[in-house]
This record gives sequence, C-alpha cells and structure tokens, in this order.
Amino acid sequence: MELKQEVLKILEENRGQSISGSALAKKLFVTRSAIWKAIKSLQKEGYNIIATTNKGYCLAPDNDIVSAESILPFLHGTAASFTLDVRKTVTSTNTIAKEMASQGAKEGTVIIAKEQTAGRGRLGRSFYSPTATGIYFSVLLRPKLTIQDSMLITTAVAVIVAQAIERIAQVPVGIKWVNDIFIGPKKVCGILTEASINFENGGLEYAIVGIGINISTNGFPEEIKEIAGAVFEEKPEDAPVTSMLVADILNHIAKDIDILSSKEYLDEYRKRSFLLGQEVLVMKGSEILPAKAIAIDEKARLVVEYQNKEQEALVSGEVSVRPSPQKL
Ligand code: BTN
Repeated sequence: MELKQEVLKILEENRGQSISGSALAKKLFVTRSAIWKAIKSLQKEGYNIIATTNKGYCLAPDNDIVSAESILPFLHGTAASFTLDVRKTVTSTNTIAKEMASQGAKEGTVIIAKEQTAGRGRLGRSFYSPTATGIYFSVLLRPKLTIQDSMLITTAVAVIVAQAIERIAQVPVGIKWVNDIFIGPKKVCGILTEASINFENGGLEYAIVGIGINISTNGFPEEIKEIAGAVFEEKPEDAPVTSMLVADILNHIAKDIDILSSKEYLDEYRKRSFLLGQEVLVMKGSEILPAKAIAIDEKARLVVEYQNKEQEALVSGEVSVRPSPQKL
C-alpha cells in the first residue's frame, strides 16, 4: 500500500479526531516530512484534512470522498473480507466485474466507481452515471444455483438497498418492480443483475449485482430531474454518508449471501412494492397494454390482470411496467 493510502486509512479510522504527525510517522515507520508530503497530496486530491498546530491532522467528519479506506471502517462480519476496488471513472462497473469474474476473481470482489461513462441499465438502456452526485458499484457473487433460482437475487438486493437507504437517509423507500428504488415519486437507484451460466451443469458460474445510487441531483439536467431523485435532498454534514451507505449494503449482502436467492426477502419486497393494486402499463417491445398489478408471485414475477380479465406473470428480463399516467 502506498504511504498516502496508509495515512488515509489511519485518518479514516480516527475520523474527526486529530493525530499528530509524529504519531503517524512512528506508526508507519517513516519521517514526519514523508507524512507531511502524503497529507499535502491527499489535500490536493480534495480530502478535507484539517491541520492544527500542536494537535496534528484530522479528517473532517463530513469528508465524503469514497475510497476503500473510507468504506472499510464501516464493514463488519463477512463483508470485512470483501475486496474493494475503488476507481474514479470506469465504463461500467458491471462490465469490469464481469471481466474480472471470467478471469477467476473471487466472490466478494466489489468494483466501485464515482463515475461511469457507459453505465448500463435493464433492457439494454443506458444508466446516467455522472461524477460527484452518485455512486456505482458491482458485487461479484458465486452462488451455487440454477438460473431460475438466481432471479430472486435482484429482489433480495432491492430490499437490502431500500432498507439501507431508509436507515441512513431516514426516509421511506419504495420498490418498483423489478429493481427500481424510489423515494416518493422519483427513482433514486437502479439495480442490474447479470449472470454467466455454466453450460455443463446448467448452474451459475457467477452473478454480478450492479447498483447505481443517486446521492444528490446537483447538476442533473431538468428532463432527468423530472424522473430521477436522490437519497438526500441535503447531504448531512456530519458523516461520510456515501461510504456508510455502500458499507451498509455490502454488510447485508455478505451476511445473507447464502440466502439471497431464497424466498426470505419476498414478503418485505411485496410490502415495499408500490405498483401492487395499481393500474399499470405493460410494455412488451412495441406493445403497450393497460393492466392492473395484482401480485408478486413466489418467483418474484409481477402478476397482472389485463382488461379482458386474463392474467399473466411477467418475467423481469422481458418487459417493463409503469404506473398508468392518470395514477402519477
Ligand atoms: C436500471 O435502472 O435499469 C438498472 C441500473 C443499474 C445501474 C448500475 S450502476 C453500477 C452497475 N454498472 C452498470 O453499468 N450498471 C449497474
């Protein structure tokens, strides 16, 4: 690890408290001037490190720059052994995680980016992933499952993300089938799960769970602001909330890694699903069909009833559903 990273790690572990240059130097077996250079370089990167005479260096409580060092202090249990790879800009964290998975990267590898230039959403759509306002990450899982069972992973992660946002932002969070996380009428997060199948045994080789969260909407174009919201209207100034949120999600994914594809999360998923009981439009290719969303079945499919009273269980990879305009 570079000295700069080691200094940052100690400052993150002692966030809000001052540590003297000589204590840092002693801990890291380097000179005070090497510490000073590392601090200057971190400050240049944007870290809010306050230097006070006779006290030392202190990482400001509101410093919300995401790094492996800023997330690690909040990880516990199995998540503490996850491998965090934090990058500034990538094409798509899912694409990178897939490449790493095919080269044998281990379960619990997490690619985190502050910006994506080619973020991907469901059904081949792109996912707006600007810098400074969001966090985008992908978790590599290697569950021993068939492809059918793996469908439930997205729903479990949607619940985990909704609960984490609710804990950290203290606002009610809903889920729109299948993988959109909403605060009020606006989407604040999307989840894209991609899997690779082992054709010999029909099981999963790996699954990549990609999560993109809007932390704020500063600078969003007006047309995007109409549909996209953010976790915080105003970011709290006393905590590194983005790192805390990522850590909370990773902690819960890690804790339940073996039951993500079970039905454990389905009831909570149903409770948060605001489409249930509503008039919706089902979009299948170029077809748009009015229907009523009546249930989420045991395979996490959305059961709809069309106007001719016929029912259909919709599979997530094929259709998208939105509330009827008069219900918005
Ligand atoms: C959707 O809303 O349709 C799903 C969006 C998923 C976006 C996340 S951001 C991290 C990961 N990398 C991607 O390219 N996509 C997912």
